[in-house]
Amino acid sequence: MHKIVLIPGDGIGPEVSAATRKIIEATGVAIDWYVEEAGAHVFEKTGELVPDSVYRAIDKYRIALKGPITTPVGTGFKSINVSLRQKYHLYANVRPVKSYPGMARNQSVDLVIFRENTEDLYAGREEQISPDEVHGIKVITRKASEDIARAAFQYARTNGRRQVTAVHKANIMKLADGLFLDAVRTVSKEYPEIDYNEVIVDNMCMQLVMYPEKYDVLVSENLYGDILSDLSAGLVGGLGLVPGANIGKDCAIFEAVHGSAPDIAGQGKANPIALTLSAAMMLEYLKEHTAASRIRNAVGQALKKKENLTPDLNGNGTTETLTEAIIHEL
Ligand code: NAI
Ligand code: MG
Repeated sequence: MHKIVLIPGDGIGPEVSAATRKIIEATGVAIDWYVEEAGAHVFEKTGELVPDSVYRAIDKYRIALKGPITTPVGTGFKSINVSLRQKYHLYANVRPVKSYPGMARNQSVDLVIFRENTEDLYAGREEQISPDEVHGIKVITRKASEDIARAAFQYARTNGRRQVTAVHKANIMKLADGLFLDAVRTVSKEYPEIDYNEVIVDNMCMQLVMYPEKYDVLVSENLYGDILSDLSAGLVGGLGLVPGANIGKDCAIFEAVHGSAPDIAGQGKANPIALTLSAAMMLEYLKEHTAASRIRNAVGQALKKKENLTPDLNGNGTTETLTEAIIHEL
């Protein structure tokens, strides 16, 4: 019996996590869920965004499936998502982006993005110099850069991938991105069988839109990795389809790339596939390989029928119709 913390989150989080839980349960894998509330609705009730019980549960079970949590823009509290990644040192954010027939603008996208998850401009070090001047400090360390590089190369080796591309802006940020690149180059030497190359981030955005098939595994800093993830999601049919995992040494939190989607929350039209595929990554992590591949196949089959699809995929279906279709395919 696997013991897993389930954080439904807010916005569309509760809708897509309920759907995902149903789909996992349909595979027959035995799971004890420890449901923990966190997010805007908890704050309204208790004045706390993340109750201590959430941390206690993750401390104990070391694995969580998490829905999105809203973060206010400009003012207010620090992102809970970023806090969790930092607290549990979940240094590798892994996001596979693959085209499904009929969904994608480009049929040959098969990328895995490795985004450094603990530092960079997300370290939260901003200084008010004067009312009219703010400094945001970009933190890059050799250790974190080598760790994310090793995660990317090791993944490439284990999964028979041919190439790793480091994405950077070291032409401008010579010290910060220079250190990142230097660390990735050092690690690349441990993997002579994998092709290694480097692309500057702005060019990378154009390359991905025009020639995504040329790229395989990408490794980048936190901010560029965040942006490249959503850009790549756009290539394959949107954020409703792209899963993710935050992985540390002995703890992991699985969550989709997308956020709480306030524009569609509570309307029953959120696409549950991104979180469902994140749960498939979780099942791989738990060595439930058969259940994971059954889920991926069922998703692929369900996507073939237009009547199942949610509006983000140009369908007239709902979270429920798509969830039932996936369960039917299982
Ligand atoms: P978003 O990812 O929530 O939404 C962007 C667009 O994609 C929206 O039009 C939304 O309707 C659509 N979309 C996203 N997921 C979808 C799904 N499963 N099905 C159908 N359509 C979907 O990004 P946005 O609007 O920039 O952020 C909203 C909030 O989410 C913010 O407070 C942000 O801080 C938070 N956020 C949280 C994350 C997390 O918990 N890991 C990650 C990203 C954002
Ligand atoms: Mg993001």
